[in-house]
Formats: sequence, C-alpha cells, structure tokens
Amino acid sequence: MEISFQDITYTYSIGTPFEHRALQAIQVQFNQGDYVAVIGKTGSGKSTLVQLLAGLLLPTSGVLQVWDTRIHSRSKKLGEYRKKVGVVFQYPEHQLFEETVAKDIGFGPKNLGCDVAEIEHRVSEAMSWVGLSPDLRDRSPFELSGGQMRRVAIAGVLAMRPDILILDEPTAGLDFRGQRDLLSILKRFHQHFGCTVVHVTHNMNEAAELAEQIVLMSDGKVIATGRPVDIFRNLPNLQVSGLDVPDVTKWIMSLNQKLSTPISTEIYELSTLVDELIHRGRRGS
Ligand SMILES: Nc1ncnc2c1ncn2[C@@H]1O[C@H](COP(=O)(O)OP(=O)(O)OP(=O)(O)O)[C@@H](O)[C@H]1O
Ligand SMILES: [Mg+2]
Repeated sequence: MEISFQDITYTYSIGTPFEHRALQAIQVQFNQGDYVAVIGKTGSGKSTLVQLLAGLLLPTSGVLQVWDTRIHSRSKKLGEYRKKVGVVFQYPEHQLFEETVAKDIGFGPKNLGCDVAEIEHRVSEAMSWVGLSPDLRDRSPFELSGGQMRRVAIAGVLAMRPDILILDEPTAGLDFRGQRDLLSILKRFHQHFGCTVVHVTHNMNEAAELAEQIVLMSDGKVIATGRPVDIFRNLPNLQVSGLDVPDVTKWIMSLNQKLSTPISTEIYELSTLVDELIHRGRRGS
C-alpha cells in the first residue's frame, strides 16, 4: 500500500468557538494506480479527507504516508509533494483566470518548469483528452459555455500529469450527457496514465461504474472500504450512511426476484446489463 492514512484526525478552527472535528481515527490505504471513489452524505468529511491527501491541510494528529513522504501536524515544505498531486475542486471553472484557454491549461505545466515546447505539447494533448477543439486555444475561457469551461479547468489539471488525481464532485451541475462524457474521459485518462485517482462523489452510479476501491464515510469516519461489490452488498452500512445502492443494482435485485438463474450483482454498467439480458434472451433463459 503506497498511500496510507494512519489514525488521522482533523479538527477545523481549533481553540475557537467554531472548532469542529471533521475527521476521526481515519485508517485507510490506497494502492498506487487504483481508481478510488470516496462516498458519503454531505458533511461526512469527504472533502476534508482529500484536502489532506492534496497536502492542502495538515492532519491534527496521525500520519499520512504517501510513497516516501510522511505528512503530519508539523510537516513543512510540501511544495515538491504538491506538484505530484492534481486537484479538481468542486466547480473548478470558477478558478479559471488566464486570458486564453491555452494559457490557462498551460499554467500548471509552466509552474512545473516545463519548457515552451513541452507546455505546447501538453496543452494540445490535454485539450484533446477532454474533447476541446484546437480552435478554442486562443479564445477567452470566459466566452465558453459552462460545460466547456469545466473541460478547460480539468484539462489544466490533466496537463500536469499528476501521480495522484483528486476530483471533488467533478460532475456536479453538469447535464446527463456532460456527466457521461466526463466519466468516460476520466476512465480513459486513468487507464492510459495509470495514475491514482481519488474521486469524491454523492453519486453511487458513478462510484460503482468507475471505482476499483470505494471508501464509505459517515460522520467523519471511514465505516467501510472495499470493492464496489463488497460495499453495495452491505445494505445496513449504506443505510446508516444515508446512501443507496446504484440504479443498476436496484434493477438487478428486482429482476432476480423473478429469475431462476440470478444475474450477478457485480454488474454496474447499464450496457453490460443490457448485453446480459440480450444474451439470456438468445439462449431462451
Ligand atoms: N472551514 C471549516 N470550518 C469548520 N468546519 C468545517 C469547515 N469545512 C468543513 N467543515 C465541517 O467539517 C465537516 C466535514 O466537511 P466536509 O466538507 O469535509 O464534508 P463533505 O463530505 O465534503 O460534504 P459535502 O458532500 O457537503 O461536500 C462538516 O461538518 C463541515 O460542516
Ligand atoms: Mg465536499
């Protein structure tokens, strides 16, 4: 396990009337290269957890070990570490600021010290990853549609080629088509570069479809971690956390009440379920 939260606590605004313990006794490990989804209802501590991983907050107690970096309450100089971690915050388009799309996407690689040719290459590549036409390079990001602005912001993080890519509710506010497109971009990017992805979401369908590992949070604690099938078969844990199973799981559970040979509940993609039903139809079962 290359990324390990060791008994981490995080308290906001210590010593003030606003003091609030957001995380307690967090013990969780991720493997390098895994696609991890962090799920939990609002206020459960998801964003706090990923801000610690991003090196933006320091633990109040405990240790976060990421490769050979140990992050604790007195850690200093996380600059080099932070260069390896790309963060897409909620509504990242609010952070666009450069005068052109190319400059905005190239900002991160420039800060990493890439030369002009490399910046150019990474900007073109990242635009292609997120499906932005090269014609948009010299346009102001503020003239684009909301969906395109989101893509520019995400391209800016992908262009840094992070070892850890953190996404906090990346599909929030997008329409259904925009959500599907973004999920497919993230899936392909992860498969191509093999970076560790930590994706925070309220959406069980997203988590089930993309994640190799799910971290289930409730009230500042990690209450379960495992493969999607392990998380979604434990209904009491989900209910305690105020969450539900993915839609595809609901449909399979309802179909299975009528079928003599049940369909596997390890299927999370609608297209895979449809293929399974067509296959059964052909077999006449
Ligand atoms: N700056 C802050 N100061 C004090 N308390 C905070 C601060 N930020 C978050 N909290 C509190 O810490 C707890 C965890 O917040 P966090 O933002 O990590 O939850 P979350 O799971 O990301 O929620 P959401 O799904 O709404 O984004 C919440 O009770 C929240 O109110
Ligand atoms: Mg949050």
